Amino acid sequence: MDVRCLSLDLGDASALQQLQTDALAIGLFSDQDQQALRQGLGHLLTAAEQAALQTRLEQRRFKAKPGECLCFERLGATPATLIVVGLGEPAGFDLDAVRQATSRACKSAAPAGSLALALPLEGLPAHGAAQAMAEAARLSLYQDQRFKSDVEPAPGLGQLLLLGLSPELDPVVQQAAAHCSGVELARQLVAAPPNVATPQHLADTAAALATGFGLELKVLDREACQALGMGAYLGVAQGSDLPPRFIHLTYRPEGVVQRRVALVGKGLSFDSGGYNLKVAGSQIEMMKYDMGGSAAVLGAMRTIAELRPAGIEVHMIVAACENMINGSAMHPGDILTASNGKTIEINNTDAEGRLTLADALVYACKLEPDAVVDLATLTGACVIALGEEIAGLWANNDGLADALLDAGRNTGEALWRMPLRQSYKEGLKSPLADLKNTGPRPGGSITAALFLQDFVSQGVPWAHLDIAGTVWSDKGRGLDPAGATGFGVRTLASWILAGAAAGPAA
Ligand code: BES
Ligand code: MN
Ligand code: ZN
Repeated sequence: MDVRCLSLDLGDASALQQLQTDALAIGLFSDQDQQALRQGLGHLLTAAEQAALQTRLEQRRFKAKPGECLCFERLGATPATLIVVGLGEPAGFDLDAVRQATSRACKSAAPAGSLALALPLEGLPAHGAAQAMAEAARLSLYQDQRFKSDVEPAPGLGQLLLLGLSPELDPVVQQAAAHCSGVELARQLVAAPPNVATPQHLADTAAALATGFGLELKVLDREACQALGMGAYLGVAQGSDLPPRFIHLTYRPEGVVQRRVALVGKGLSFDSGGYNLKVAGSQIEMMKYDMGGSAAVLGAMRTIAELRPAGIEVHMIVAACENMINGSAMHPGDILTASNGKTIEINNTDAEGRLTLADALVYACKLEPDAVVDLATLTGACVIALGEEIAGLWANNDGLADALLDAGRNTGEALWRMPLRQSYKEGLKSPLADLKNTGPRPGGSITAALFLQDFVSQGVPWAHLDIAGTVWSDKGRGLDPAGATGFGVRTLASWILAGAAAGPAA
């Protein structure tokens, strides 16, 4: 899709009449009357058309609520389709509302060849609005037909003109494309079935990014991980016939490095639960998405590698494997030793993500980064707590937590900070080992985060995002078509870009 900014004003009669797009979408606030619409379109519509449109809006009882949308066809005219998009109250019209309205307009317009979109952007940051609109358009029209034998023509738009934005913002639109490519990579990885998106496939994806964008890649096999003492990660991997792949991908900027960060992603290409096998209702058939954390960090690396921010070095670490139950799988009751020497009693083989993350976090901390952020589809408890639209955020550092919350807000990914309540660590006490891998059911997402914290070195700012609820959308919502959402990519990428812009680490 070709997206461009056009500083055309709806009040400019001759410019409006030269608009050659198939469709024109115009946003309307709920407190605006038809007068406003007529003002907006007076130069375009004939008096008869205006009256007809008016009647249609009244018949449909169009209130211009957010999400409301009306299409009006014009025979023999250009633009042939007029789309009126409801925007709700002006006071609530923020960048998120801009995204939702753009998504609505684009979905209504597709499969038209081209759309011109006019939203009332006064008072909003133009840069942010351009990025929000460009991202919303591409992400909401995304479609995945890789596994169909009979491919239908893409429903997308060929061209999108963002009216009222200066063409000086076209570079912002270009950058938005890099963000979308990262999200799309993550969506593709998450949606791919577990017989395709194997640990080796995740390593191959990292290799393709390394070659394509000049990144550095190290992939450790089972023996190399053994040599590093990664008993927790390998304990999970040992139940699968597929070999584990410990992936370390690095982006190094040109020039001076002022800040170094590590992104860690949970990479369970399938989670059967292990000998604590997942039972009916536990969504075992969806557990291909248990590598959503690794998909998000790979996606973010793709975005970063394309945008090449200065001053910031980014490490991506994924301890990829499957949680399966062959004859050598770990037993409930096994005691494993992680690479920091801590011993873990396995009281539930289904709490496997934290075991793989334990060794990945120890590895990440050895790099002495200024911050470590992990993303994981870690607990069903987080889905119960926050639902499917909000990811849980735990952090041992307020500055890092706030920076991530800001990044989430700026890109439209919802995060909610959760407590690292130390007294709950009681629930992870083991009579035999240093700790057990599973606490009691209440507060399950918190004890999971506390478990991870045990593998983060003292003094390293660390944050953990539980994306179990947000990684997938059965029905689709907003910018997410049904299926994999690619959640986390945009938050990570914008957090890293903001960090690069901020200069040296504090
Ligand atoms: N991958 C799951 C978490 C999960 C569950 C993600 C549902 C998305 C939807 C994780 O490995 C797991 O099985 N967690 C257990 C932990 C429990 C055994 C302490 C859970 O949440 O039930
Ligand atoms: Mn599990
Ligand atoms: Zn899991």
